[in-house]
Amino acid sequence: MGNQILIRNVPDHIKKRIDRERQSLLMSQQEYLLKLLEDSTESPQFPLFDDTKEFGRLELPNTPFTFVDLFAGIGGFRIGFERVGGRCIYSVEWDKYAQKTYKAWFGEVPHGDIRKIRPADIPDHDIMLAGFPCQPFSLAGVSKKKSLGREHGFKDKTQGTLFFHLATIAQIKRPPILVLENVRNLLSHDKGHTWEVIKSTLEELDYKVHHKVIDGADYVPQHRKRVFIVCFDVRIFGKRPPFSFPSPPTHKPPKFKKILERNPDRKYTLSDHLWQYLQDYARSHRERGNGFGFGIADPNGRSRTLSARYYKDGSEILIAQNGGRNPRRMTPREAARLMGFDDSLPIVVSDTQAYRQFGNAVIPIVTEAIAKQVVRVMAWQITRNGNGCLLKSGKTRTTRKAVLRTD
Ligand SMILES: C[S@@+](CC[C@H](N)C(=O)[O-])C[C@H]1O[C@@H](n2cnc3c(N)ncnc32)[C@H](O)[C@@H]1O
Repeated sequence: MGNQILIRNVPDHIKKRIDRERQSLLMSQQEYLLKLLEDSTESPQFPLFDDTKEFGRLELPNTPFTFVDLFAGIGGFRIGFERVGGRCIYSVEWDKYAQKTYKAWFGEVPHGDIRKIRPADIPDHDIMLAGFPCQPFSLAGVSKKKSLGREHGFKDKTQGTLFFHLATIAQIKRPPILVLENVRNLLSHDKGHTWEVIKSTLEELDYKVHHKVIDGADYVPQHRKRVFIVCFDVRIFGKRPPFSFPSPPTHKPPKFKKILERNPDRKYTLSDHLWQYLQDYARSHRERGNGFGFGIADPNGRSRTLSARYYKDGSEILIAQNGGRNPRRMTPREAARLMGFDDSLPIVVSDTQAYRQFGNAVIPIVTEAIAKQVVRVMAWQITRNGNGCLLKSGKTRTTRKAVLRTD
């Protein structure tokens, strides 16, 4: 059999699960099996982690912890935290098209406008997940708002203040852990003042705040730098919870060409008019010393960041075509793959909405990597308490004894 790896006697449901995970990582069977072997030889961060067989396995039959998915979009956060055994007990997303996708993928319609939700109505949970809207802070969002003479950042009255809704929910519900995500520009917006306000607000609520910019390019063939903010309740975890962000995976991400469909519809090829416009636009920008313009993705490399405005002209990620044809934009399925969403997840909205949803989303493989690190800290805390619970009091409000089951 040479150096082929064979798996025998694996139940079908485990095979399916392995296959799903493999596809989401865009890996061949061989690459995936090698990754599993590599992972299994890594030493655990805490001895306990090795003992809590609840974690780190492919099969997670119980639900060791609960979470809420706020500003859920299409659930990129949810997928990552479910993969490590979490159970989503409440979701919030007001966009009706995102709700449609969320319903198709997770079987529930999220609650609507977060500003109309009373924090007390949100069930108690262990982890609050929230990729709060980024337009008030993103480079593109800020310049658009400036050109329209509108306020940005916290001064943007409709979108900028949503962070404070999160803070209020955290204050009232006191989830032990918060995991937030936003564009990298959040850190530098308003000369760093915006980030200072966010960090100090969370610290005043007695959370230990960790943050890091992670580039999705370590996981998928796309540069996507996002800031992740992971906070632990000091009253539970103390001032120095042993949290660290995940190290980049040891295996290389797949190349851009791996996400391509075989026979994309001709409608994705740019019209002569649009292609000419994009070239003229790029030329005039180059002449003025600006680097902006369309981007043809390198099939053997990584693309630029997929944005929510991809539906407009697809200019940031174009695909060169043979036979003298104009370049084409990605299909929605290719956009899904570029974000690491599994092919088994149906696309139930129009192309325009699908591009918006994928362009707004967080990469599930990245959230999964962060979730694994968060779970390690929970396991550490539970051992410290010695009562099988996240809380010293042993109250079952948070993570239950199931976490420590070793059978
Ligand atoms: C950056 S996206 C989050 C994407 C998500 N992390 C994902 O993986 O798909 C922010 C989301 O917040 C939603 N949103 C904005 N304002 C809202 C509000 N007032 N109430 C509920 N959802 C809101 C938007 O519709 C958008 O889907």
